Amino acid sequence: MNEKKIRHMLNFKDYSSEELKRIIEKAIEIKKNPEKYSDILKNKTLIMLFQKTSTRTRLSFETAMTQLGGHAIYLDWRTTQFRIAEFIDEIRAVMRFGDILMFRALKHELLQDAARVATIPIINGLCNKYHPCQALGDMLTMVEKLGGNVNDVKGRKIIYLGIANNVSNSLVEVCTKLGMKITLCVPEKDPDAQDFELEAKARATGLYEETTDLSCIADADFVYTDTWINMEFFDEKGNVVPEFKEEFERRKRILMPYQLNTALLRKYNSKAKIMHDMPMHPGYEISREAIEHENSIIFDQAENRLHAQKAIILFLLGKI
Ligand code: CP
Repeated sequence: MNEKKIRHMLNFKDYSSEELKRIIEKAIEIKKNPEKYSDILKNKTLIMLFQKTSTRTRLSFETAMTQLGGHAIYLDWRTTQFRIAEFIDEIRAVMRFGDILMFRALKHELLQDAARVATIPIINGLCNKYHPCQALGDMLTMVEKLGGNVNDVKGRKIIYLGIANNVSNSLVEVCTKLGMKITLCVPEKDPDAQDFELEAKARATGLYEETTDLSCIADADFVYTDTWINMEFFDEKGNVVPEFKEEFERRKRILMPYQLNTALLRKYNSKAKIMHDMPMHPGYEISREAIEHENSIIFDQAENRLHAQKAIILFLLGKI
């Protein structure tokens, strides 16, 4: 029997440049003609399983399914039997109810476990190592700002400031596969996110660099940052909890020079567009002034999650 292999999106390791380009181009087309796709997923169900909180990922996937004529079901890990049962049994049962699964997992290994028993496509909605859907939304945003042609990102340059992490990993993958230069300007890396194979492949393209020298932003087209302050650091009143005080102060000391702010952009005469995947922590990795700056494209990035999700779902369901 010639069984068709189920395609997932856990990261971009098994994705060609042509496939990523096709997804971005489809996202652009759907964004321009949403009505053309309004019942393409009639009677199809996306199950969204969240082991961590979310605003944009949940909203963009749920709205995407509504606008494509399908339906999305939200499952919060904490209110399901995942808490008390074996993961592998619960996830196999979950997959019997839907056509496609989006899973935000604490650990990448759980996504891999799910993929091993998968009967439907699985989308990584963020894990400790990757955030592929974010990277595709970000690439869509950059393509749009450069005029709307995916090929125009070739030779352009993005700088990522702060801590190398799951978001920067997927950004590195998508940029280097589409011919865009990416420099991580990072004084440290999240050890839980580090992927040496991904770094080596990116470096081999000649498009990927690492530095701690902030002057790299001078000729950048885009400058991007992500959180380096964990929510666990704070109590409900916004005070730093005692057990994290030392780590909080250490991060501030090391990372504050890498804050994305307008003084930094002025210092290097940078005209770069300002990016952040959100949620943001104004006053830490980014200043309020940078968020509100005329070069900020942060809220376009947030909206583009929706258009990118549609293309991702259609790609994995074999509709494009
Ligand atoms: N950027 C992002 O994934 O946002 P959420 O965590 O709110 O989904």
